[in-house]
Amino acid sequence: MSKKVSVLFVCLGNICRSPTAHGVFRQLVKEAGLEEVIEIDSAGTAAFHVGKAPDTRSIQLAKQRGIEMADLRARQVDLGDFYQYDYVLAMDEANFFNLKELALPEHYDKIQLFLDYSSDYAEKEVPDPYYGGAQGFDHVFDLVESASQGLLQHIQKKHL
Ligand code: 4NP
Repeated sequence: MSKKVSVLFVCLGNICRSPTAHGVFRQLVKEAGLEEVIEIDSAGTAAFHVGKAPDTRSIQLAKQRGIEMADLRARQVDLGDFYQYDYVLAMDEANFFNLKELALPEHYDKIQLFLDYSSDYAEKEVPDPYYGGAQGFDHVFDLVESASQGLLQHIQKKHL
């Protein structure tokens, strides 16, 4: 295989949900020995937090669950992302529709809801935990972990 399979996780601020997905999926890819084959990044549809590290609540929770993500920095989605990435995975429907508005029709197929890859949860959206309590971050992590496993299985079956 010549070209890497590339995945971009997208939420609103790129400081809670999408960096959690980035960190969790990166670890799964590493454990599968596929770091040279799968490229991963995350971004936000909004620019509020560009350049910042993930929310400390996300970093702490991830650390408790064995995932390092403190090295990540927020950036905003740009048009080049739709050319560069094979999978542009939205955390919720608002982000999904915002991505569709930004993209050209030829790129619509790349834009999907991340939780479509979870076989454990019927929920369609990873809820925004930013203004809530610790429980919200736990739930985000559970959803992200499940969908990350499903996504890796899908990529292995389809591309590798
Ligand atoms: P995220 O969470 O989209 O999961 O990174 C949010 C972070 C910040 C804000 C909203 C959601 N905010 O309004 O600043």
